Amino acid sequence: MSVVFECTGLHYRYLERFPALDGVSLQVNGGETVALLGANGCGKSTLLKLLDGLLFAERGTFTAFGEEVTEDKLEDEQFNHGFRARVGFVFQNSDAQVFSPSVREEIAFGCLQLGLDRAVAAQRVDDVLEMLDIAELADRAPFQLSGGQKKRVAIASVLVMNPEVLLFDEPTAALDPRTQFWLIELLEQLRAAGKTIVLATHDLESLPSLADRCVVFGENHRILADAATATVLADRELLLSANLIHARSVRQPDPR
Ligand SMILES: Nc1ncnc2c1ncn2[C@@H]1O[C@H](COP(=O)(O)OP(=O)(O)OP(=O)(O)O)[C@@H](O)[C@H]1O
Ligand SMILES: [Mg+2]
Repeated sequence: MSVVFECTGLHYRYLERFPALDGVSLQVNGGETVALLGANGCGKSTLLKLLDGLLFAERGTFTAFGEEVTEDKLEDEQFNHGFRARVGFVFQNSDAQVFSPSVREEIAFGCLQLGLDRAVAAQRVDDVLEMLDIAELADRAPFQLSGGQKKRVAIASVLVMNPEVLLFDEPTAALDPRTQFWLIELLEQLRAAGKTIVLATHDLESLPSLADRCVVFGENHRILADAATATVLADRELLLSANLIHARSVRQPDPR
């Protein structure tokens, strides 16, 4: 199996003061679906930003597709385009991700950035509008949409690039039950299509459909456990110590 990401001893602090990751090592293989779990502030979003080459570790190494990813390397246009075409990131907050005047332009943006022909990009945009059932939003301004609609647009703008690796930060947060269900089904389809997926989530209920494996962070910004989803969900002590359930939780989620 191919290794997609290899992280070794990653350390990250914001403003050189606020710790977010403290010696984090993990490997993600091709076709795997990995959930990052942990309390608020433990470092999940930070790790996703490192995996997307948006932040860079102070110490440790990050290798993607067999090549080390550094700030210098991403300044090289060819390397940058190669990396961006292979890895897509859906942010926790869609407002930070949508900025074009229309949904259609928003979704086309990444393809045009990577130098795709306009006609090819337009066709891809139509396909993904259809796939995500948002064709009727195509000419709307993204910033005027509801949270759930923005989320669909943000996902469309990533899927349109057809990346091999998808990073999702709390994909089901703040969505109504029907939209949550729709998104879980979409993630299942992407998983079945062989995409490599890394997602941060607090949604333990949906975990068995979303991830093969869970990486659990402690509040000290270190990895507490890295194991199969069923193993993690069956470990009440671990779930309590990582602040994933509280002491009054009647039962833990069904590990299935
Ligand atoms: N822009 C920032 N400036 C300073 N500190 C930050 C910044 N962003 C995050 N942090 C700090 O880094 C740590 C890790 O934050 P991160 O956002 O990665 O956590 P998280 O696990 O994604 O939490 P949540 O479940 O609340 O989304 C936290 O202590 C947080 O306060
Ligand atoms: Mg977060």
